Amino acid sequence: MAAIEIKDLMRRYRGNGFAAVDHISFNVESGEIFTLLGPNGAGKTTTIKILTTLLKPTSGTAKVAGFDVDKDKDSVRKSIGIVFQEPSLDWRLTGRENLDFHARIYGIGREEREERIEEVLKLVELKDKVDVVVDKYSGGMKRRLELARGFIHNPKVLFLDEPTLGLDTHTRRRIWDYIRELNDSEGVTIVLTTHHMEEADYLCDHVGIMDRGEIIALDTPKNLKDLIGSDVVSLEMNTGSYNTGIFKKLDFITDFRKQDDFVTLKMERGDLRIPSIMEVAMREGIEIKSVNLRKPSLEDVFLHFTGRRIRE
Ligand SMILES: Nc1ncnc2c1ncn2[C@@H]1O[C@H](COP(=O)(O)OP(=O)(O)OP(=O)(O)O)[C@@H](O)[C@H]1O
Ligand SMILES: [Mg+2]
Repeated sequence: MAAIEIKDLMRRYRGNGFAAVDHISFNVESGEIFTLLGPNGAGKTTTIKILTTLLKPTSGTAKVAGFDVDKDKDSVRKSIGIVFQEPSLDWRLTGRENLDFHARIYGIGREEREERIEEVLKLVELKDKVDVVVDKYSGGMKRRLELARGFIHNPKVLFLDEPTLGLDTHTRRRIWDYIRELNDSEGVTIVLTTHHMEEADYLCDHVGIMDRGEIIALDTPKNLKDLIGSDVVSLEMNTGSYNTGIFKKLDFITDFRKQDDFVTLKMERGDLRIPSIMEVAMREGIEIKSVNLRKPSLEDVFLHFTGRRIRE
């Protein structure tokens, strides 16, 4: 079943000559993690704002948990949780007070609130900080508390707009694990946005790559990378004159480039081919300084479809 159905959705901001979201259509299946991946200004937050009823679409339709985001706002709001791109905790309150306040708004009774607060804090490992004012939390702790707040009321769909923006690599990985754990243990459908391709790659079942308001590619990260195909093996050689053309004779090589002391070879399953490549190099007396195998990344996919890098 689809948790989200988007049909021909468009949003133009007043005064802009272009559409921030430009006729997009896709579904998100129940229970999956879906990522919108794209550079600054791609239209990710605008899409999230429409799906969470904070912004009206200019045209087109979207349903979340079966409810129309324009015609049935209240039902949509009861079914969702949101973590905004901009921090939105009350810094003067403790972690517990922030969570309790939020749960009250959703009409959760006292006993259940206390139980749920314990549960969510355990998941994001903030139990020992629960009675500290948020002002004294680190950036990563604040983000974890926001995550906990986003799902304390058991939403069907949880929206996370840039959940790891500005966090260091270590904290980012921990947040990824909480998101996965949440998806596993509570079965909640998660839609998140990011411009980190590793984040999309690590976390999501399906990724929609967004650029200039459009969805330019949509599939599993694996299928998208397979589309790019080949692995890239690059050889760094000691300076000298070698018969590097010999690599072209290997029947599994699909592309050969030589620049200065580097030879770049494309092939399927580079991991299995490196021994043969090294054997040829040794036979020809080609002195190899280093070997590097690179699998295609979502960055290569973005590059393939747009001719640009995500972080330009
Ligand atoms: N309130 C607004 N008024 C006018 N234009 C806006 C407004 N909000 C966003 N835009 C424009 O709409 C486009 C999409 O913006 P949006 O915030 O959806 O992008 P994003 O993908 O979330 O980017 P980021 O990765 O930087 O958060 C941008 O060109 C932006 O300048
Ligand atoms: Mg944004």
